[in-house]
Amino acid sequence: MKFFIDTANLDEIKEAYDLGVLDGVTTNPSLMAKEGITGDDNVRAHYKAICDIVDDKVSAEVISTDFDGMVKEGKELAKIDDKIVVKVPMIKDGVKAIKYFSGEGIRTNCTLVFSAGQAILAAKAGATYLSPFIGRLDDISFDGLDLIEQIVHIYQNYGYDTQVLAASLRHTMHLIKCAEIGADVITCPLKVITGLLNHPLTDSGLAKFLADHAKAAGK
Ligand code: G3P
Repeated sequence: MKFFIDTANLDEIKEAYDLGVLDGVTTNPSLMAKEGITGDDNVRAHYKAICDIVDDKVSAEVISTDFDGMVKEGKELAKIDDKIVVKVPMIKDGVKAIKYFSGEGIRTNCTLVFSAGQAILAAKAGATYLSPFIGRLDDISFDGLDLIEQIVHIYQNYGYDTQVLAASLRHTMHLIKCAEIGADVITCPLKVITGLLNHPLTDSGLAKFLADHAKAAGK
């Protein structure tokens, strides 16, 4: 399972990359705004800065909601760097744009996915990645993980190439369950990735090893 980090914060991206487990980055307009990045030139420069940190696969989201606007914007985003994946919302013109980008060899990430029907449409249009939002479904009392399981099953039935990119993860159990289900990729905040490190028996075991070593050395 690939790990993407869901942030536009350069320090967090560097920290995840330095850990050696990062396969890519996802952003969205809210995450860019959170970093105070506004204006087309600044947004593009920020995407370039992210691409300079990681090896590949940086999702950059279009703001347009009509086909022509999404195509124009997506092409401009794709020109920033070969690592860019154009993120397109799951709306009618978005599906058309995904089909267009697929024909042009531009990778896409279909975002704001909340149903199996939407997942089938995106796969048929040729999306490279599909982003179902687990946490936001959980927020309204639908089981987000059930949706991931359903989509993985459907994609396996037909051998779709679209990769299931589980998004809106809120905690480590979301990540572990996605691995059990067989999601291709997860994207999450840094704290979910670093949360995987934690176990009290690791901490107490290491403290004991170091204490025994010091004692034997007469320290
Ligand atoms: O990748 C999607 C993600 O940014 C949404 O996460 O926590 O805002 O639901 P969240």
